[in-house]
Order: sequence, then structure tokens, then C-alpha cells
Amino acid sequence: MEIVVSGIRPTGNLHLGNYFGAMQNFVKMQDTSNCYFFIADYHSLTTHPTPADLHGNVKQVLVEYLACGLDPEKSTLYLQSDLPETAELYLFLNMNAYTGELERCTSFKDKIRSQPDNVNAGLLTYPTLMAADIIIHKAHKVPVGKDQEQHLEMTRTFANRFNRMYKVDYFPEPVAYNFGEQLVKIPGLDGSTKMGKSEGEGNAIFLFDAPEVIRKKVMKAVTDSGPTEPNQPKAQAIENLFGLMKALSTPDTLQFFENQYQACSIRYGDMKKQLAEDVIKFTTPFRERILDLLQNEAYLSKVVNMGKEKAHASASKTVQEVREIIGFKAF
Ligand code: TYM
Repeated sequence: MEIVVSGIRPTGNLHLGNYFGAMQNFVKMQDTSNCYFFIADYHSLTTHPTPADLHGNVKQVLVEYLACGLDPEKSTLYLQSDLPETAELYLFLNMNAYTGELERCTSFKDKIRSQPDNVNAGLLTYPTLMAADIIIHKAHKVPVGKDQEQHLEMTRTFANRFNRMYKVDYFPEPVAYNFGEQLVKIPGLDGSTKMGKSEGEGNAIFLFDAPEVIRKKVMKAVTDSGPTEPNQPKAQAIENLFGLMKALSTPDTLQFFENQYQACSIRYGDMKKQLAEDVIKFTTPFRERILDLLQNEAYLSKVVNMGKEKAHASASKTVQEVREIIGFKAF
């Protein structure tokens, strides 16, 4: 059976980008594949969270995984830090990852710009840790958003390099995957092309946002003064609003505002009101389940322990075999 692996960093609540780029696929894939979904808490250490924040964020994302419909009976749901085998495979992969290729990675270059005071080695080797996460279960498919495409390319490079170096056909070549379509990139509300947790205030809508928060954020979304002639290309911020509407509203609603845009009669206030209500309709059931699950510590602990055991069975086998391939032998 096809093996699927993916994870999300616990650095805040899940936003609509995480949902449409990743989570939606996780939920669909668990019925047909052997899925491993984890919370990438090792990766989140690059931003130096406090111990209390780290734990709180891990709990929140775990609850959100479950609220979105991940089923611990169907998939293996686990914490990355419950699988120290990952750290060992990461060490092995780092020996064959070159600083030049790591420095050229777009996400690393972005971090140098966005956090010049904290360019740590964990950021540089972020792609090798991610590769270890994926190949430790010998994955074939990795459901992710468009922003992770390059990381998947690097994962294939590291997996192939290992196979070549040791003249084995051990690791499969994993591919970035979106259910039946191209990889997704959900835009932000602030006119930037990506919704993200580390973007500024007002960029992201979280599944856990209360209705009044969603209304406020959407009504504040960046727009322009409107088109003045038919077929005028849309500014990025307007493209973004339409992009969000495409993900969340009905095709009829989208078409209605598209026609108004083309006729130069669009009122962005009306469009945003409609979008806000469509977002609220979409997020409310998630929010209710999240609030419920947050109270259920005993269930969360059961889920985590079950996932840890299942993930360990798969990972320890891989690491044992990798050790033998590399040449570590018992005396
Ligand atoms: P992270 O935590 O930044 O994002 C989690 C997932 O959400 C997707 N995503 C988006 N998709 C569409 N539009 C957006 N605006 C948007 N924002 C985020 C991301 O593409 C991702 O799929 N490095 C990963 C976590 C990770 C991982 C892995 C993923 C660690 N190891 C192994 C897959 C396999 C990350 O930081 O994702």
C-alpha cells in the first residue's frame, strides 16, 4: 500500500492555508493509504519557543488535527519528538548534504532576510530534517502546499544520493502531492501572496478564529479603488480576495462577483461581507470540535501514545536497516 507522510509545525493555530494546502488532503488520503501524520515540534525549535508555548502549541495542533477529521484508528498521528529515530536519520543525512545546496534553498534565504539575528544551523539543515521525517517511513506521497515543493525536491536528492552512495535501492522517491490537482497556495488578506503564521497581523484566518474576529479581519482586507475598464487585470490584493472566495464560497457566488468585477460595478465591501460569512460557515464546525477536544486530556494522551508506538515500529526498522547499509556492525 502507498505510504503517505506529512507534518505541520506547531507555531500557532492552523490557518486556511494549512487546511487547503495540507490538511484537506490528509483527511482524504487516510482512507486509501498507509498514512503517517505528525506534529513537527523539532522543526518549530528554530524559532526558540518557550517550554510553555511549545507544549501549548503542540496540544493545539493535535486537537486541530483531530477536529479536522484525522482518525487515529486509520492514520498514525504522532509527535515528531516522540520519534528520536528521526534525529538519528537526520544526522546521517546531514553527512551527505552539502552546505552549498542548503544555502541555496529559498526558505533558508527568506529566513536570513526575515530573522537576521537568528540564522541558526537548524534553519540551514531544515530540509535534511524534513527529508528524514519523510523517508523514515519510506514514503511515496507527501501532501503539502506549494511552498514546500523545493523541500520535496531536496528530499528526493537526499534519498537518491543515499541509494547511489551505498549502491542500494532502498528509499523510494517521494513526491509533493495534492489530491488530484496542482499544489495549492492560499493567499493572505494583507495583499501578500501567501497566508502564513509568521506573516503580519491580519494576514491569516485561523480555523479557531471566532466569527467576530473573522468578520473584522476580512473587512480589513486590502483592496483597491476598483476596475475602471472591462477586462482590467486584477491587482494582487484583489486576486487574493477572489482566490479565497474560490476556496471557500460556492462557484455561483464567485461567478457573481467575477461578473461584477468585469462590469466595473463591483463593491468590495459587499464581496468581503459575503466572503466573511462563507468563511464563518466553513470554520464554525471546526471551532466547535476544537473547543470540545481541548477539554479531553485523557483522549489526547491516548491518541499520542498510540501514534508513538505505531510510528516507532516503522521508524526503528528503517533506522536499523540504514545503520547496516552504512556499515555499523555489532561486535
Ligand atoms: P508549515 O507548518 O509551514 O505548513 C504546514 C502545511 O501547510 C501548507 N501551507 C500552505 N498551503 C497553501 N497555502 C498556504 N498559504 C500555506 N501555508 C502553509 C504547507 O505547504 C504545509 O504543507 N516544513 C513543513 C513541516 C514539515 C513537513 C515535514 C511537511 C516538517 N517535516 C515532512 C511534510 C513532510 C512546514 O513548515 O510546514
